Amino acid sequence: MNGFVESEPLAKARSYEERMEAFIDRKDRPCFHLSPRVGWMNDPNGFAYYQGEYHLFYQYSPYTTTWAPMHWGHAVSKDLLFWRYLPCALAPDAPYDEHNGCFSGSAIELPDGQLLLMYTGAGAKGKREDGSPQECQTQCLAVGDGVDFMKYEGNPVIDASSLPEGSSTEHFRDPKIWQEEDGTYRAVLASLAPDKSGQIVLYRSDDAFTWQFEHVVARNSWRYGIMWECPDLFHLDGKDVLLLSPQDMLPQGHEFYSGNGTLCIVGHVDPESGELVEETISSIDHGTDFYATQTLLAPDGRRIMVAWMQNWDALAGSLRDNRWFGQMATPRELSVRDGRLYQWPIRELEGLRRNQVVHQGVAVDKSPIALDGVRGRVVDMLVSIRPEDAGDPFREFVIWFAQDERFHSSVRYRPEHGSLEISRIHAGSRRAYVQHRKCTVPGTPTELTLRLVLDRFSVEVFANDGVRAMSMTIPTEVSADAITFSCKGRAVFDVEKYDLMDPAEV
Ligand code: FRU
Repeated sequence: MNGFVESEPLAKARSYEERMEAFIDRKDRPCFHLSPRVGWMNDPNGFAYYQGEYHLFYQYSPYTTTWAPMHWGHAVSKDLLFWRYLPCALAPDAPYDEHNGCFSGSAIELPDGQLLLMYTGAGAKGKREDGSPQECQTQCLAVGDGVDFMKYEGNPVIDASSLPEGSSTEHFRDPKIWQEEDGTYRAVLASLAPDKSGQIVLYRSDDAFTWQFEHVVARNSWRYGIMWECPDLFHLDGKDVLLLSPQDMLPQGHEFYSGNGTLCIVGHVDPESGELVEETISSIDHGTDFYATQTLLAPDGRRIMVAWMQNWDALAGSLRDNRWFGQMATPRELSVRDGRLYQWPIRELEGLRRNQVVHQGVAVDKSPIALDGVRGRVVDMLVSIRPEDAGDPFREFVIWFAQDERFHSSVRYRPEHGSLEISRIHAGSRRAYVQHRKCTVPGTPTELTLRLVLDRFSVEVFANDGVRAMSMTIPTEVSADAITFSCKGRAVFDVEKYDLMDPAEV
């Protein structure tokens, strides 16, 4: 790209990742979930369709498998399943981002055909009482050709002085940019409000370079965790939808759990105040590992969501002996029905299906049963469950997977409570960390359809058309590939199971 000069930190990261990638066997990575080229990955960033390909950047520390000052890793894909790595896109190399790095943000194509990255610079300003540097977060831009990006000389383009008085200068991050039909730009951002809990704020720009504060879109007011991170606001199926990721949640039934969670607010933006009038509020994904969502509008009109398939609270038990750490969830198509968010794996995944196995009307009771051809660790499986006779509902139905003599994970459905529980308590971790999660599935309690998407180190469960999703990483050796079924009471179920092939080989 004209005028592009690689800074020393960027050149170092690029040459390091290129050398080290060679030491990671493709078979030691997830098959179709994006993992970092080397080192650490957290949030998805800059998810955009640009010049005929999907671009996905990510929070990245190439040199460690733990969080460290953030770079932006970069990969591209035509089908959102087979990813090709591109060189590291951003490194901490400017005064406004070299303290903790280039934090999360988004991307959009400019009218001149270049790709604009909008990210949070984690710089430092002044000192804390203990003498350590005081972090200062501002919003910055970089422009490029899809491979090389030049940081804008006018950075930072937004700082906290434009926020409502009393808002934090330290917690102000994760810009999500989009373009309105009239060609003007908007960005939503997460900020710590004067009441010291999260708020989501909206900025406006005519050219994507000069920004004005518009208004507060949503206020936490201490209801769902404390700080809110990674906001995304879009229109879908007649509603306005705000996705975000709260920190420091308190539990509420089986809807929200302590720690870092996700939140989906469905409602409508009031045209006068610009505030989101809330209609329904739920977790986005009820599993153990899901955080920091980001969506794009695909050229065919689908709203597609990606997320970090990991959670800050679950790190203690995660695999660390690889040269990579962290992976993205399967991209999901979103829809809103009856005020609820529905998620379904992108339809491209069906293109990886091979070796169909179908069993219909299988009766099961207490002792676990195995079915011919139903096993594997890279699998797409649909299971529909119903009581053997409607008058005698079963009390519990369990799918065991990633199973050998010693280890297993499970999905357990209890119709009486409508509860679905995923568990990796016996998956082989020696650490005490978040190992199971429950949620309530709306719908007829005695009938349930589940889709399980298994990759080498994870499972994603979608219930009843995707009204509930639960994601979980699994530490069990890939050789543990048995799948069995059991039931308390008697149920009948159908299974349709496919192996998923490596998208590199399609
Ligand atoms: C969310 C987050 C973002 C931030 C990034 C830093 O996981 O804390 O708010 O931009 O990670 O890596």
